[in-house]
Amino acid sequence: MSTMLDFLNANGTSTSIVHAAIVLTHACAGAGWILVAAPDDALTRDARRHAARTLLVFALALALPSVAAAALALASSSRDTVRLLREALGPASFALAASPAAWLVAWAIHVGARSAAVARAAGYAAAAVAALGVFLGATVAALLWNPARWIESHAIRDAMLSGWVIPVLVARVAAALTMGGAAVWAWMATGRESAGPRRVVIGAVASAIVTAAAMVTLWGGVASRAARDAWLEVPTGLGVHAEQAGRLTFVAALLATLTALLMLAARRRPVERLAPAGALALCCAALFCFERARHAAVLPWSVPGIVFANGTQAERVRLARRSARLELASGVPDNAVGGAMFSAQCRSCHTPVELRAKLGDRGFPATRAFLEGLREADQVGSAWRGVMPPLVGSDPEVESLARWAGSLR
Ligand code: HEC
Repeated sequence: MSTMLDFLNANGTSTSIVHAAIVLTHACAGAGWILVAAPDDALTRDARRHAARTLLVFALALALPSVAAAALALASSSRDTVRLLREALGPASFALAASPAAWLVAWAIHVGARSAAVARAAGYAAAAVAALGVFLGATVAALLWNPARWIESHAIRDAMLSGWVIPVLVARVAAALTMGGAAVWAWMATGRESAGPRRVVIGAVASAIVTAAAMVTLWGGVASRAARDAWLEVPTGLGVHAEQAGRLTFVAALLATLTALLMLAARRRPVERLAPAGALALCCAALFCFERARHAAVLPWSVPGIVFANGTQAERVRLARRSARLELASGVPDNAVGGAMFSAQCRSCHTPVELRAKLGDRGFPATRAFLEGLREADQVGSAWRGVMPPLVGSDPEVESLARWAGSLR
């Protein structure tokens, strides 16, 4: 199991699983809100029941496995991140972890209950749990984005009530409603009913526009390098990453708007059956881009100021930059040391083939000199500050890495 997780982590797949889980749980939350809040005359009873059941199946078949995989990936790959969240959010982190399961239970009761009163109460409970989950998720996103204030105070209110929570929360709620609206409409179009109700479509369109606006607000600052933390240099001041984030935002905003237009345009058969599924996929892509862009924008950090993207802790750099990084028994072949150094500190961002290409025609002395420079990558004035994490290790370890890199073909 752990080798499989190592493989996933090394290939960046676990990040994708976590993002997929985030997107799917938002879609479920949004669809649940719409079904609970839609007035009686907006949906027929059959349509409502069909959509509520489909949502349960969707959550069980897609969201639950992805949440479980994401929890495993998080617990195994970023222990420091998990520890930070537990420390920063206190008991709220357990509420966040428990919310998908609590939602599922409440929704299952909502779908299965014989009595209308029980079904209604369970529906409201699910909606409330989803709202709490989305709020806590926004809190975590805001904290991971910019934890500088919390790092100084270690007070839970600085983790939970920073100003960053508001735009993140607006973007998330709007994206959840867009995806939920598209989903409910899709389930309606595939059921016996034709043409999703007008209110669902208009609601989804409105929230798609809000999603686009919120994302542009969030990323406008990043792309224009206006939102900058002078101490940590996050989330901007990152050159390639800020530009990449800006591009992704543009694409995400475009997709959200396109989704909205598609839903409006496709109210007649035969597009009716295809368009909602397409709209749903586009919306998932938009939130997915947003999550990935957020991740990219804080590179080389995983958690700014605390853990670098390759798992190196900032504290370790401060205290023991030049002591042995690997715990290896004596007599390990030199080549294995170099390979292990690469796996531990570079593989999260580069493949060996890519490293070979990036090193170009540098020989051993030049490669070693480059790695020497990389040891100071976090220092002001370094060309790699804000791009790569500092290389940590003893002199023989760094030499082994240089020799290993030189041996690559
Ligand atoms: C957080 C991600 C990240 C990690 C970890 C990382 N790098 Fe990089 N590396 C980058 C980025 C970003 C660039 C610059 C943009 C580009 O070339 O794509 C870069 C560029 C490079 C280059 C090209 C430098 C040049 O002269 O243009 C080399 C060589 C390199 N990295 C080696 C390494 C080695 C060796 C390690 C491990 C000790 C490492 N990197 C760890 C992200 C990373």
